Amino acid sequence: MSGVVVVHGGAWAIPDDMVEDSYAGVKAAACEGSSVLKKGGSALDAVEAAVRAMEDNTVFNSGHGSMLNADGEMEMDAIIMDGSTLSSGAVTSVKNIANPVSLARAVMEKTPHMLLSSRGANMFAESIGIATVPTDTLVTEYARKEWEKHTAFAFGVLEDFNSRWAHDTVGAVAVDSAGNVACATSTGGLRNKMVGRVGDSPIIGSGGYADNLCAAVSCTGHGESILKVTLARLIISHIERGKSLADSSQLSLQYMGDRVQGAGGAIVVSPSGQWAATFTTKRMAWAALDHEALWYGLNPGERFKEELSQ
Ligand code: GLY
Ligand code: GLY
Repeated sequence: MSGVVVVHGGAWAIPDDMVEDSYAGVKAAACEGSSVLKKGGSALDAVEAAVRAMEDNTVFNSGHGSMLNADGEMEMDAIIMDGSTLSSGAVTSVKNIANPVSLARAVMEKTPHMLLSSRGANMFAESIGIATVPTDTLVTEYARKEWEKHTAFAFGVLEDFNSRWAHDTVGAVAVDSAGNVACATSTGGLRNKMVGRVGDSPIIGSGGYADNLCAAVSCTGHGESILKVTLARLIISHIERGKSLADSSQLSLQYMGDRVQGAGGAIVVSPSGQWAATFTTKRMAWAALDHEALWYGLNPGERFKEELSQ
């Protein structure tokens, strides 16, 4: 098996005028991750590359293009996890970092810790030479306008994540030729969130989880709901009990809807290369590159196929 990469660009009510750019963005990110695998990179390298591509793409709420908090500032969260060792690294509330996923990876590989927050995360970035970039290079006109337009915070319950209130998160999961799985998730978080609010994305077992003994998962959706049900680990626990990846994701998302009225989505890959992309919001852009083709979709039930050029 040469490996599989699956990505999502966030589960929310993506407006029609962002659909084409969302398809293009997830397809490009899946190809980026896959090309890393083809060059002999690990699943960890692939998810980092795929998420970096989406952080750099302003159509998604992460890195460049992140939503702004109540004070009009950017506070970004990210996690990465290695399914071979259960090591993970995460950052919360970082500012002026172009690629929070790479900082999360550095936390995993270069510190004895798993999660660094705000000032400490930024100080660590500086200490290892990850550049601090000017705010203007990350804040888009769209993010600024969205922030100005809505003075009230979106509660993010089911209806909100199915309206234009929310703009959510990017993520990737991958399995490499050695059967190692990895996940990564990165977000600007909820628009107009309280200063200092931390969502699900950087929290292990909620925004993502990866274990070679089972699967890798990256989640998206209403953070407070995902945290309540520890969505990534909930999906894993269904898979551990023998359910398919798609059924496990669907059951878990349905449970989150029923139990705490939260909507969201998830992508999953197993060590044997099976994968699924599932959501309960109106839309979620996703793409998957496996041995057979490039698959992608955004609307419920949609599954386009592009043959791979040799
Ligand atoms: N799209 C921003 C968020 O709700 O995470
Ligand atoms: N799912 C991203 C957040 O709630 O921050």
